[in-house]
Amino acid sequence: MSLKSAAKERREAKAFPNGYVMSMKFIIQGGSRLEGEVFISGMKNAALPILFATILVGEPCILENIPNVSDIDVTLQILEEMGASVTRLSATSVQIDTANFNQGTAPYALVKRMRASTYLLGAELGRFHKACVGWPGGCNFGSRPIDQHMKGFEALGAVSTTDSGCIRLSAEEGLVGKSIYFDMVSVGATVNIMLAATLAEGVTVIDNAAREPHIVDLANFLNSCGASISGAGTSVIKIRGVSELHGCRYTIIPDMIEAGTFMVAAAATGGTVTVRSIIPKHVESVTAKLCEMGVGVEELDDAVIVSPATELQNVNIKTLPYPGFPTDMHPQFAPLLCLANGISCIQEGVFETRFRYVEELRKMGVSAMVDSRNATFVGGGKLTGAPVDAMDLRAGAALVIAGLAAEGRTEIGGVQYINRGYDNLVGKLRALGAKIEVVDLPSDEEILE
Ligand code: UD1
Repeated sequence: MSLKSAAKERREAKAFPNGYVMSMKFIIQGGSRLEGEVFISGMKNAALPILFATILVGEPCILENIPNVSDIDVTLQILEEMGASVTRLSATSVQIDTANFNQGTAPYALVKRMRASTYLLGAELGRFHKACVGWPGGCNFGSRPIDQHMKGFEALGAVSTTDSGCIRLSAEEGLVGKSIYFDMVSVGATVNIMLAATLAEGVTVIDNAAREPHIVDLANFLNSCGASISGAGTSVIKIRGVSELHGCRYTIIPDMIEAGTFMVAAAATGGTVTVRSIIPKHVESVTAKLCEMGVGVEELDDAVIVSPATELQNVNIKTLPYPGFPTDMHPQFAPLLCLANGISCIQEGVFETRFRYVEELRKMGVSAMVDSRNATFVGGGKLTGAPVDAMDLRAGAALVIAGLAAEGRTEIGGVQYINRGYDNLVGKLRALGAKIEVVDLPSDEEILE
């Protein structure tokens, strides 16, 4: 069955005759310690740019360790609807052949669901010298401009216009490598310029580039297809344009944010959990903060063992681009800070606003003050179960951790956000002893479709 028909079937299965749809909730009975081992899936934020990068290749690529999350489903649907041949080879591997990919307007209903659809701009521009993509969606952390992406495309020779909600790029004379300095460290802009420059004429140098492991993974994938990219993982990336790429087989790196989420969940429930199939270096900032709090973290070659603190100590966190503490990990720490001794602070150094989840945590007994990019958490409290709603992906993970550590029953709505980025979260938590289940409830709210 094609991905399109599978998605349609899933949609119909959720619909009631009266037009209502099923809305999923997580029900958690808190208080169980997590114990055992968990295997981490492939990294969503690495798989997404690599999936879009296959547009540049025009030959079959086999990607392994693909996480089973809805952002990946949406990306595969976009690629398929635009003419790529997409074949699921197993639960975690997929073959993509973009030989017949048609440059054109990507389906907006899909594009608006996630931030990573901006990667269509760089990939289409790189291969076809033109692109047309609707404004992307994604989690709401305040304004999320793409001026640095556009600055980079224009430096390479593209002209940009916006009409009818669509970003149009065109480089009739082709793209020519340039030196580009980013005004701030941006994962998305770094990915997009890497994509656009891979098949450009000459050498492109990105200065003040993002250094995240997923940037390195994208460079490794493109190099496996014949690209010439050096410096990924440092703040200066050099891309020597090549005339064509060839297909390859590539394995996506493990998800450091999923790993960090399980590490914090173990600490919050006072359990001992071995988090396996990871690259411990990628979670070093999380490990450092947990150790400062008194949690035991033992690093093995491809795993960490998290063991309980005798007493959780307060800690201050400031989020920064990699290798700083990831902005995608601070919501998960919030419930832990409430269980620690004393006052803890989180300073958000990447996005304009990312503390909307605190309102939901208050319903569970969290005492916190938020002032723009800073939040102060009063420790020494206890968490109690409550009905709450996830408002974005990592906020959802924070609520799950709070629910696991709380006394009583927590009901979490907005599960569609959590499913964007966590592969089989419920199954993995249950295997660790958590009392968590998914229930389908009738709702008149439209779910992610
Ligand atoms: C990516 C991740 C997201 C993560 C974020 C930071 C994906 C799909 N998403 O998002 O999970 O939280 O990195 O690690 O990988 N900015 C500008 N102008 C631009 C581009 C960015 O002002 O042209 C600003 C943003 O508003 C933000 C900061 O730069 O304040 C960093 O954003 P960026 O690194 O681009 O995040 P995303 O790529 O959107």
